[in-house]
Amino acid sequence: MNQRVALVTGAASGIGRAVSEAFFKEGVTVCLADRDLQQAEAVAAVFREYGGRASAYQVDVRNEESVGALFDAIGQQFGRLDHCVTCAGVINKTKLLELTLAEWEEVIRINLSGTFLCVQKSYELMLPQKTGSIVAIASDTAKRGGGRIGTAAYGASKGGVLAMVKSIAREMAGSGIRINSICPGPADTSMHHQLNEELRESVAAAIPLGRFAKPEEIANAVLFLCSDKASYVYGESLNVDGGILME
Ligand SMILES: NC(=O)c1ccc[n+]([C@@H]2O[C@H](COP(=O)([O-])OP(=O)(O)OC[C@H]3O[C@@H](n4cnc5c(N)ncnc54)[C@H](O)[C@@H]3O)[C@@H](O)[C@H]2O)c1
Repeated sequence: MNQRVALVTGAASGIGRAVSEAFFKEGVTVCLADRDLQQAEAVAAVFREYGGRASAYQVDVRNEESVGALFDAIGQQFGRLDHCVTCAGVINKTKLLELTLAEWEEVIRINLSGTFLCVQKSYELMLPQKTGSIVAIASDTAKRGGGRIGTAAYGASKGGVLAMVKSIAREMAGSGIRINSICPGPADTSMHHQLNEELRESVAAAIPLGRFAKPEEIANAVLFLCSDKASYVYGESLNVDGGILME
């Protein structure tokens, strides 16, 4: 029996949901955390119905106490954590001249500070094990900037995630815990459902593969990074973007 335990934040929807499903299919115990508890629980219930081990937790990754309570619960319930995948995130498309400091701070708080809190707490749980794998979901925007829509705050938050992961990887080398990030290109989730058809088509046309990613395609890369097959992949940011970022 697979004894591994994985935590996925933002697990109620999109990429986080697909990552949770990929773990479930591998027989991993999945902790689905999201601010939308009802939806996370609905996903977990389906996994349980099919014989999986899955629990849902409410978390607001902006809030240190909330993140602390999540990791306390996992520590008490399972006594270990093998994988943490940080998918909780929001986008903000306010144009530069209209972007308020409050909006900027909200995006940084969720996408960057929220990832920091979850990564820090993951190390706390994983360090005594001397093993574990953490994957932070960044974005192609982290490397190339956003598109024509206003993405200053989003791009900054995701660029911060990349730099943070590399810095932590250097600091914590020798811990036995691997940390990496993924830069997905545009993926077919609620984040992009808000785009009108014309914009969607122009975004897709700029992708060498000519289409948005399916969330499962991002999840496959997460599973690889979490597996022993990636035992020598460390501090890396893996592009899963249909070729957008190729050099
Ligand atoms: N969809 C894309 O094209 C794309 C591209 C690159 C990167 N990403 C990144 O992938 C991640 C997942 O995005 P998605 O496309 O699946 O979007 P999504 O909106 O479908 O999922 C995001 C999830 O995060 C949760 N969430 C938001 N704020 C939270 C908070 N404060 N605390 C806890 N949970 C919170 C939401 O409830 C939701 O379930 C995000 O970090 C996003 O930036 C997405």
